[in-house]
Amino acid sequence: MNLGLNGKRAIILGGSRGIGWYTAEILKAEGCSIALCARGAEGVNEAVTKLQELGDGSVYGDAVDLAEGDATRAFVKAGIERLGGLDLLIHNASGFGVGGSEDDWRRSFDVDMMAGVRAVEEALPALKESDSASITFIGSMASKYYFGRPPGSYGPAKAAMRAYANELAQAYGKDGIRANVISPGAVWFPGGSWDNVKKENPKFYAGVEKAIPLGRLGTGEEIARIIAFTASPAGMWLNATHIAADGGQVAAVD
Ligand SMILES: NC(=O)c1ccc[n+]([C@@H]2O[C@H](COP(=O)([O-])OP(=O)(O)OC[C@H]3O[C@@H](n4cnc5c(N)ncnc54)[C@H](OP(=O)(O)O)[C@@H]3O)[C@@H](O)[C@H]2O)c1
Repeated sequence: MNLGLNGKRAIILGGSRGIGWYTAEILKAEGCSIALCARGAEGVNEAVTKLQELGDGSVYGDAVDLAEGDATRAFVKAGIERLGGLDLLIHNASGFGVGGSEDDWRRSFDVDMMAGVRAVEEALPALKESDSASITFIGSMASKYYFGRPPGSYGPAKAAMRAYANELAQAYGKDGIRANVISPGAVWFPGGSWDNVKKENPKFYAGVEKAIPLGRLGTGEEIARIIAFTASPAGMWLNATHIAADGGQVAAVD
């Protein structure tokens, strides 16, 4: 199947490592031009260099903290200029505010929620010009399921993202813009948070593997493929939806 991504232009917020990086890699190999950001300049430079070796299309990267509103807006604006327009906006970064402190709540609100809001506001004019515009937020199954942690800001921020994506989809469908949320369950990749758990608490990790019907965690590539499809022209009829990409980890119907 042709995803129809050749020549498309994508912005990935939080794209130097993990799920964001695997997504960048697939999109670039499919012929997209990419603008990505992350806080660490070294990671951004490394990602840009690696992406330049893959497929056609240009690559732009910048070190940006998505908790900062002005910097987020400036990055999206610069990204659109560098790409010559925009087709895919992907908000992947999280504040990972799993605690319940005021700082956690603020970070979750700023990074998971407001960076998305600010990016969308800056991107809307360019997305309206696209013939295949999509907004994709990376959520979490914590937006619908209680994983046994003390109450915190992570799940609620991801849940707010889902309501916001629906509002975007309803309001801007007339402009040809789709909006969806993809919620991974537990995802393993080298150097990621679950890789740390695997090393530091192998018993707990084994318990999580056992609780997933397929007997293992998902991989970064597996989630990235779902993101790429959903955001691509091939995923055109997915709109205003929440996709549970958890391999059946959350044992519920919807
Ligand atoms: N991994 C999982 O098991 C899992 C499960 C459910 C949901 N998710 C969701 O999937 C998404 C990606 O998770 P991941 O595990 O791939 O994360 P990750 O490995 O920590 O990578 C996050 C990426 O975003 C960047 N980033 C983080 N905070 C940022 C900020 N404030 N400003 C700019 N860039 C920032 C990071 O680079 P810098 O650190 O250099 O900024 C990195 O490139 C998140 O939304 C997460 O909630 C992941």
